[in-house]
Amino acid sequence: MTGTQDFDGLSALVTGGASGIGAAVATLLLARGARVAVLDLDPGGAPRGTLALAADVTDDDAVRDAVDRAAAELGGLHTLVSNAGIGSIGTVEDNSDEEWNRVLDVNVLGMVRTARHALPHLRGAAAGRPGAVSITQTCSIAATAGLPQRALYSASKGAVLSLTLAMAADHVREGIRVNCVNPGTADTPWIGRLLGRAEDPAAERAALDARQPMGRLVSADEVAAAVAYLASPAAASVTGTALAVDGGMQGL
Ligand code: NAI
Repeated sequence: MTGTQDFDGLSALVTGGASGIGAAVATLLLARGARVAVLDLDPGGAPRGTLALAADVTDDDAVRDAVDRAAAELGGLHTLVSNAGIGSIGTVEDNSDEEWNRVLDVNVLGMVRTARHALPHLRGAAAGRPGAVSITQTCSIAATAGLPQRALYSASKGAVLSLTLAMAADHVREGIRVNCVNPGTADTPWIGRLLGRAEDPAAERAALDARQPMGRLVSADEVAAAVAYLASPAAASVTGTALAVDGGMQGL
């Protein structure tokens, strides 16, 4: 394998790592020398060379078992990438309480549960690899920009952003860095499903592209590169940061 091996000797767990952004992250960390486990509802698509673990982030026992198994089989845990998430479309008038609870359970509590069970392992690793132990959460530009028809999804990602900042404060003295990435609309199977449900998929795709100042969607690999930076030893001084990878959607 050519290229930087800055994750050599490090173990990583990527939730939602069997598709889209998570799969791109798992592939990149593997290429950069990490041992990688994937926790996913449907782990069939986990990249080759990763330890694929089936778990639902809404099931606390299943998350604990998967995290413990990843740490046992990979030799500790240095890098948690908490990425599993689901979408929801609509205004506050459209979504029922059940839908709010379902999405918040995955997008917010899923990250809480994963962190809860990963932290003892991360803490154990922090002394041995200062600067290299971290949690990176996949948030969204929806946390900081007002997007139409995304009330519930945006609120869930707003919670992820605040959670990231609070966790960064809680664990900074333990040598555990906590950051998030805020992707703009990213070209993943998620968007494929969205377009599949649209009345006119080509027009919907053109509208998504047009919403980006760069006129194109962000790629999963571009988001993965940002996650890998935040998790890498090069970001040893970076914590409590939200890194936008959004084609200029927020700033321009
Ligand atoms: P994706 O649908 O391609 O992949 C999501 C993965 O998470 C799938 O493998 C799925 O099985 C897994 N997953 C879903 N629910 C789960 C659960 N309860 N327990 C365990 N695993 C579960 O989606 P994509 O696009 O790669 O999204 C990944 C993250 O990126 C999500 O948190 C999403 O909110 C975020 N994001 C995506 C954007 C996009 O435009 N695609 C933009 C901004 C953020």
